[in-house]
Amino acid sequence: MKTCDCEDIYWDGRHYDKKYQDLAEDIPFYLRQVEKYGEPVLELACGTGRVTIPIAEKGFDITGLDISEPMLALAKEKAAERKVDVKWILADYRDFKLDTKFNLIIIPFNSMAHILDLESLNACFSRVKEHLTASGRFIVDYFNPRLDFLLRDPSSRRLIKEYPDPDGKGIVVIYETNVYDAVTQINRIKWYYKIGDEGKEWIKELNMRIYYPQELDELLLLNGFKIEVKYGNFDETPFESQSPKQLIVCRKS
Ligand SMILES: C[S@@+](CC[C@H](N)C(=O)[O-])C[C@H]1O[C@@H](n2cnc3c(N)ncnc32)[C@H](O)[C@@H]1O
Repeated sequence: MKTCDCEDIYWDGRHYDKKYQDLAEDIPFYLRQVEKYGEPVLELACGTGRVTIPIAEKGFDITGLDISEPMLALAKEKAAERKVDVKWILADYRDFKLDTKFNLIIIPFNSMAHILDLESLNACFSRVKEHLTASGRFIVDYFNPRLDFLLRDPSSRRLIKEYPDPDGKGIVVIYETNVYDAVTQINRIKWYYKIGDEGKEWIKELNMRIYYPQELDELLLLNGFKIEVKYGNFDETPFESQSPKQLIVCRKS
């Protein structure tokens, strides 16, 4: 099983929250799923609680699990500020054991991309099955890979984000390059950070495993899940070729 190689990009939850401060389109979708499938809920790879906390704020019983200490530290701080009750677990989603079984387990915002090899994927899905009630649902939320994105010119830098530095040092500017390896199906991304006018450039690397639609469905089936529905976006329209998302609701078969 490959070791988790994403510590570098989740080094400070405040940067993560600033970077994704405009991202909220998935929250109403998750709230609808919790209302439909019930609690308790387990969010795998919960990060800074971007999805976890709004669910808890509606009064649902939710546990957030993540491998990153800095991300969880900020999640705890935010939950305390907003006076919501969440159980936070520092663990690897491939290797955890909790006393609770859940009616809903979710893995939002492409977090499966950090699962780089089959052994890790099988381990994660096994943990999900162990922690799901007999009628519980597992929701995978992963993008629909676009070949035009993956095959972009590796030497061209694209501006992807600008936000105010959480320590007040100026504007953080991030450029991106990527190289897609078709053998491993890993998209090797580099983020070039610069803070303020004087700042030196620093590079962070992100390896994202690409899961194509049929492959993802088959991996779920081969791991003992039955797919109930596959949406193509958070408005719950059916999955089709141009859909931006793969939102798969499944249960144990
Ligand atoms: C894209 S962020 C998503 C965070 C949050 N769910 C959200 O929607 O904002 C991915 C998260 O996956 C976590 N992660 C990566 N590998 C993991 C692993 N093996 N076990 C648990 N969490 C992991 C990272 O620490 C990070 O917080």
